[in-house]
Amino acid sequence: MRFTLITGASGGIGEAFARRLAKEKHDLVLVARSEEKLHRLTDELMLEHEITAHYVVLDLTSDDADRKLFEETERLGYQIDWLINNAGFGSMGDFSKLDLDRELNMIELNISALVGITHRYLQGMRARRNGVIINLSSAASFQAIPYFATYAATKAFVTSFSQAIAEENRTYGIKILALCPGATDTDFFTNAGIDEPMMVKGTQTTEEVVETALNAIKKGRPLVVSGFSNYIGSILGTVVPDRIISRVIGKALREKYGSDDTGATS
Ligand SMILES: NC(=O)c1ccc[n+]([C@@H]2O[C@H](COP(=O)([O-])OP(=O)(O)OC[C@H]3O[C@@H](n4cnc5c(N)ncnc54)[C@H](OP(=O)(O)O)[C@@H]3O)[C@@H](O)[C@H]2O)c1
Repeated sequence: MRFTLITGASGGIGEAFARRLAKEKHDLVLVARSEEKLHRLTDELMLEHEITAHYVVLDLTSDDADRKLFEETERLGYQIDWLINNAGFGSMGDFSKLDLDRELNMIELNISALVGITHRYLQGMRARRNGVIINLSSAASFQAIPYFATYAATKAFVTSFSQAIAEENRTYGIKILALCPGATDTDFFTNAGIDEPMMVKGTQTTEEVVETALNAIKKGRPLVVSGFSNYIGSILGTVVPDRIISRVIGKALREKYGSDDTGATS
């Protein structure tokens, strides 16, 4: 059986991918930590769209999570033709004051789990000369972002990594996309300790982000920025020097997220 595997499918953008692809009759494997949400969603999608939907409850930052996930889908005999590496989180604040374990956990989820899962499922796609991988990056991946330092750096990795392997695998008929949304209406901001999306005006819906991704996959593009203002923001990074962008963002966010003792003269 041929399946689409979506990580972080219990809410937000991952859930929107699941809903949309179920409508298009993809059979699904949904992964996250929240069993109840996954159970409800798979039941609903199976009933409504007459597809097979299986869920795996897994903390993708736990030891050997990528191996355990792969072994589970192998055990079930599920062939993963589409992989959507969506699970991720961010944290906002003065890096020196943020919880170190949480920062390292973010690198584990946003980078290590994504690389491990991609490597494992890519083997079968290469052998079959067919497959789609969508990696959730971010409009934050195009510049260093003070007070969002670790998150923006993890997403810079995802954008770079995804584009590189997109080219390596293009001639094997495998489409790999770095999907870069800007502010999107999900629990992401609350989970990241952000009261309101500050980087850009205008928040997209999860459905808009999914639509952008599927159009980009149809066109075989390795990178897409979702939303016009986010796209403009991403190309600004190519014309304005990095240190100026970082300075401007740092100044804008310092009052809200900086420490009381700025320690600096300007
Ligand atoms: N929302 C935005 O503005 C925005 C913008 C750019 C990029 N993105 C990216 O889009 C992706 C999805 O984010 P979202 O906005 O949809 O956020 P969200 O609503 O917070 O969803 C995050 C998903 O990841 C799962 N998850 C978190 N930690 C996990 C772990 N350790 N193991 C397994 N699953 C885990 C969560 O499920 P459980 O809690 O059930 O595990 C949830 O399903 C992320 O990679 C994010 O960086 C979001």
